Amino acid sequence: MNVAVVGAQWGDEGKGKVVDHYGARADFIARFQGGNNAGHTLVVGGKKTVLHLIPSGILHPGKICLIGNGVVFDPAAFFEEIEILEQSGVFRGKPAHEFVRVSERAHVILPYHRLLDKLREEKAGHGKIGTTVRGIGPCYEDKVARRGILVGDLLRPSVLRQKVEHALEEKNVLLKHHFGAEAVDAVATAAEAQRLGERLKPFIADVRAILYEAKGRRRPVLFEGAQGTLLDVDHGTYPYVTSSNCVAGQVMPGCGVGATAYDHVVGITKAYTTRVGTGPFPTEIETTEPELAQRIRKVGAEFGATTGRPRRIGWLDGVALKYASELNGLTGLALMKADVLSGLDFVKVCTAYRLGGNTHYGFPSAMEDFDRLEPTYEVLPGWPELPRGMSSVSDLPDEFRQFIKFIEDFVKVPVVLVSTGPGREETLELADPFTSSVALRSGL
Ligand code: IMP
Repeated sequence: MNVAVVGAQWGDEGKGKVVDHYGARADFIARFQGGNNAGHTLVVGGKKTVLHLIPSGILHPGKICLIGNGVVFDPAAFFEEIEILEQSGVFRGKPAHEFVRVSERAHVILPYHRLLDKLREEKAGHGKIGTTVRGIGPCYEDKVARRGILVGDLLRPSVLRQKVEHALEEKNVLLKHHFGAEAVDAVATAAEAQRLGERLKPFIADVRAILYEAKGRRRPVLFEGAQGTLLDVDHGTYPYVTSSNCVAGQVMPGCGVGATAYDHVVGITKAYTTRVGTGPFPTEIETTEPELAQRIRKVGAEFGATTGRPRRIGWLDGVALKYASELNGLTGLALMKADVLSGLDFVKVCTAYRLGGNTHYGFPSAMEDFDRLEPTYEVLPGWPELPRGMSSVSDLPDEFRQFIKFIEDFVKVPVVLVSTGPGREETLELADPFTSSVALRSGL
């Protein structure tokens, strides 16, 4: 059985922990979009590891982690992560390339992409997106504009130099005359990229072929999404989005696999909502309930894993979650960080929006609508402290079970996993997507 996991909100839902959990059951863990804008925090045996680019399944010994062609790949960031993993003994003295492969067709993030990202954000002032400044958008722009550099190009010096020169021809005009910055030297840039390419050589592979072969041999694969559905470039809160498709369907072009690549899609949601960067957030409580927002941010350590920025806080948005479920074809939900809300008298879930005197049950597409809409809430009882180790649903307090049931009924997707803390042991699995191709049930 193959499984895809995706963020069902605006990112930071806890994908790292879920991928680590399911990673134990997969032979291959593959990323299909985004880049090192992601920040997956894993806590294993009390030790915290933050990964940005390498799939979170890497902490399980012997797994093969794949970086698909749909990812934008920063070689410098990649080697930083490899070094951290090597130092913590993850590869057990073996060469890292035995466990990590990157597609020859992935697009490379070069220093000029990072520079442009930064200059654009600075120039945009109040209108900025609030990007992670990792060069993600500029790299995807080059990909679509057909002037990108492929990972495979790093091994072809003359092609690489020609392509970098071509890409910089236009960019240097922009840098000098639009941003008032220094031009970037193509020869030095290509030489540095070539040096990184030589180091990268043993990691470069035909990821598509590896996955095709894995399918033939029925070896389980986990596809790891990054960011979240509402940051999807087509279906999110455009233009306040990332520059890739974050929905599960992106697995296919992002890894070069067919439409039958996975059997289940697990959408990850927190028991509340967070967002980093600017853009619409209907259930945000920063101004309406600032003390509660502060408390949730503190208890939930809601600060960006990539940029350290404080995350904006809000109630769970059921309308957005339903939208995410439809977009991804979710067959299960993983409910994260419910412990952060423990001890509240009540919790709220948004079930509709009021807009211009009417009630709307769908997620708007026009930015102007977000400025005017008011969330309508269902108020549910809060729950006491949640147990750390849990073996069945009966270990959960009644009020929390009621919350889970409410979400399942509202979104019409079963909750298959509940997390009550960052550690591996603070996880309750209600159904296993790796063992069944039929509809999952939480057993509530
Ligand atoms: P970019 O992906 O760096 O271009 O940033 C675009 C938007 O996506 C900004 O609002 C970022 O804060 C957001 N974003 C990108 N990656 C993540 C993530 O992994 N978690 C949460 N937000 C993200």
